[in-house]
Amino acid sequence: MDLIQRSRRLRTTPVLRKMVRETRMDASSLIYPMFVKEGKGIKEEIPTMPGQFRYSVDELPKALEEVAAAGVPSVMLFGIPDHKDACGSNAWAEDGIVQKALRKAKEAVPELYYIADTCMCEYTSHGHCGILDGQYVDNDKTLEHLAKIALSQVQAGADMIAPSDMMDGRIKAIRTMLDQNGHVTVPIMSYAAKYASAFYGPFRDAAGSAPSFGDRKSYQMDYHNRKEALKEIHQDIEEGADIIMVKPALSYLDIIREAADVIDRPIAAYSVSGEYAMIKAAAKAGYMDEDSIICETATSIYRAGTDILLTYYAKEIARFIQEGRIG
Ligand code: PBG
Repeated sequence: MDLIQRSRRLRTTPVLRKMVRETRMDASSLIYPMFVKEGKGIKEEIPTMPGQFRYSVDELPKALEEVAAAGVPSVMLFGIPDHKDACGSNAWAEDGIVQKALRKAKEAVPELYYIADTCMCEYTSHGHCGILDGQYVDNDKTLEHLAKIALSQVQAGADMIAPSDMMDGRIKAIRTMLDQNGHVTVPIMSYAAKYASAFYGPFRDAAGSAPSFGDRKSYQMDYHNRKEALKEIHQDIEEGADIIMVKPALSYLDIIREAADVIDRPIAAYSVSGEYAMIKAAAKAGYMDEDSIICETATSIYRAGTDILLTYYAKEIARFIQEGRIG
């Protein structure tokens, strides 16, 4: 056969295949999300997310040490309070659950980098991400609370703030509050393109944060939209976001790619609870090999252009990278 082009030539050996890989990964770009709750001696498995746990503050250091030992440099903390009310007051309380967790974590495992998710839905009795005016989440009233929450998280030791509420103007409100209080070096990673997604289902069970009525479609994005994601991202950058996030990841690889092509800021992607739960369930049923699926899905998100990956599989991915299986 007189073939000039033989693509298989570069696929002949493992060394060569690795040499010509187009996507390179590094565990330094992984962030591991974790759940903290009130109580003592608690490490309870989350039924909708097998292999993931809710920890009480005293149990957190052991778990954080495992994260650090796995080579994952950073965690994102979510608080599950005992007490919820209409305005989510535990979210900014000095002895709020996330504030206590941050102080403990910084002291016990200072080598990790701590990111606080800034939102209200885990703290409000109605489960919405802000302050209600009737059935509607009042945007501007919510901003004051978000700024207060972010400041209290930084005061408790958060290295970075990640607002996930999708109110308009929250980056500006938070940046202003942090700067006025002297925290000019604390970066903001904005959940800029966050879609109203059923993939958050397992998380809402984990955090008890499902809305008690209605849904989040009046603040999170409609998944039919692509240009709107860029608008949200540009707006958040203008307001002072340092890193922008696309969420979820797997059904939104096109959005990640588009952002990576045109945005001059680091891009993060959040592979959310439903993505994790789907893989777990399929693996448990024996339909697919879990490790292979973790490798393939994680690589696809980096290939789409993300710089940073938030994932419940962070420890496994770090190991696969270290073993040379991917990356
Ligand atoms: C809080 C928040 C949610 C997630 C991250 N921050 C839930 C939601 O918006 O309903 C979802 C994370 C996941 O599903 O893994 N607003």
